[in-house]
Amino acid sequence: MCPVGSECVDGTCIETDPCAGVTCTRGESCSEGLCVADAPGGDSTAGANFYIGNCRSCHGANASGGTGENAGPGIVGYPAAQLQAGVTGSAIHIHASLTLTADDYANVAAFLSP
Ligand code: HEC
Repeated sequence: MCPVGSECVDGTCIETDPCAGVTCTRGESCSEGLCVADAPGGDSTAGANFYIGNCRSCHGANASGGTGENAGPGIVGYPAAQLQAGVTGSAIHIHASLTLTADDYANVAAFLSP
């Protein structure tokens, strides 16, 4: 009998799954035997809907930047923390009465990730 994560090949136990027996904490998962942070868990479909309803008018249909008076810069590829910093950090968003939850930021970030 070989330990979990290995199998017997010609009488020798060969490790086949480096993640067997590795327990990672929440928010991480095992990759090649190491615990790594999970990819940001946003829902890009929800993010797309949110973006279209709340951001597109100023940041453009594909988030590469808007046109016109209140045009915002391109925000493609912004992670959630950077979106939050941008939204809370510029007065224009407060005038637009934007309030986003942590989930909203994660979802929009998932949508914006190239
Ligand atoms: C009323 C127009 C308007 C709306 C709606 C709007 N933005 Fe903006 N946004 C702007 C403008 C204008 C700026 C640039 C502000 C500045 O430089 O002070 C900006 C800046 C930003 C920045 C900072 C970009 C940088 O590189 O510094 C982020 C991030 C951002 N917006 C995200 C969002 C998200 C996400 C939404 C939707 C939830 C949104 N914005 C909705 C107009 C808007």
